[in-house]
Amino acid sequence: SQPLRVGVAGLGTVGMSVVRILARQENALAARCGRPVRVTAVSSRDRSRDRGIDLRRYAWFDDPVELARSGEVDCVVELIGGDEGPARATVEAALASGKHVVTANKALLARHGLGLARAAEEAGVALAFEASSAGGIPIVKALREALAGNAVSRLYGILNGTCNYILSRMELEGLSFQDCLKDAQRLGYAEADPTFDVEGFDTAHKLAILTSLAFGTEIDAEAIHVEGISSITPLDLRMADELGFRIKLLGVAERTKTGIEQRVHPTMVPKSSAIAQVMGVTNAVTIDADAVRELTLIGPGAGGDPTASAVVADIADVASAPPRAPFGRPVDRLEKPQRAPM
Ligand code: HSE
Repeated sequence: SQPLRVGVAGLGTVGMSVVRILARQENALAARCGRPVRVTAVSSRDRSRDRGIDLRRYAWFDDPVELARSGEVDCVVELIGGDEGPARATVEAALASGKHVVTANKALLARHGLGLARAAEEAGVALAFEASSAGGIPIVKALREALAGNAVSRLYGILNGTCNYILSRMELEGLSFQDCLKDAQRLGYAEADPTFDVEGFDTAHKLAILTSLAFGTEIDAEAIHVEGISSITPLDLRMADELGFRIKLLGVAERTKTGIEQRVHPTMVPKSSAIAQVMGVTNAVTIDADAVRELTLIGPGAGGDPTASAVVADIADVASAPPRAPFGRPVDRLEKPQRAPM
């Protein structure tokens, strides 16, 4: 049968992991999907950089929008990042030319997810974004598919690996905020602009996506109260410790009597709680729902291979099954969000 031809736009940490995993799992994916899955084209700003892999066998596009429109790909994997600019143009061009889209871009989805989902629906193609939230944790599929029999009442968790890494090392090793942030950047966890991590915006983008999936509502990123960790000092961590607490940056979404409340802020959690045990770049998401009761998923929240693991799962879905409604139901059946007053 016809191979799925994949174009990868953005060859950073995650993009290169995707290329490597697709090559490594070539046979298993072909067996699973019933057709070969092959990278045919790539795009990046810098053609000359040594990425440790020979990329000459793929068609190269300096402009990701050209890759998105090219006749050489059926599925565009957008790993450029950013809510406007080339990332948005690439995704829009791909959907407009009837290509499936797989993306890890939480900022783009938080801002334009509804319109993009509508465009995907109209084109009859997939818009898949498992990698956009909580890295390697399959939280999108959990909320959209595995928990279809539930009414969710609350969702909360650690959704930014960089912040959790910084807070953990500051607490356990007494290192400074700046040194921990530098290490997170060196390890490829942080956003291109780390302000998004440490000021809580990245957590808010992910929370906006998860809230929509959990409650069947339109994305409402503007409703989120956001506070980051940049003003947390080693003294704060020591004081919390003496009182039996740890400080974690949490994203919380809750259905209240008056509507849906969404917030991101540093939170004191008892050291004996499960969430307090989550250290380093690890993420955790807890869901309270009527049938399953309480469910917690824990796993790597950032980094090349864990995030690529989620991207490749989406590519495998595209190769093997008709597209799903991106947010679990057709866009016109998503409820208008009612904001709870805070
Ligand atoms: N900068 C993000 C984080 C990457 O640290 O969690 C994964 O979305």
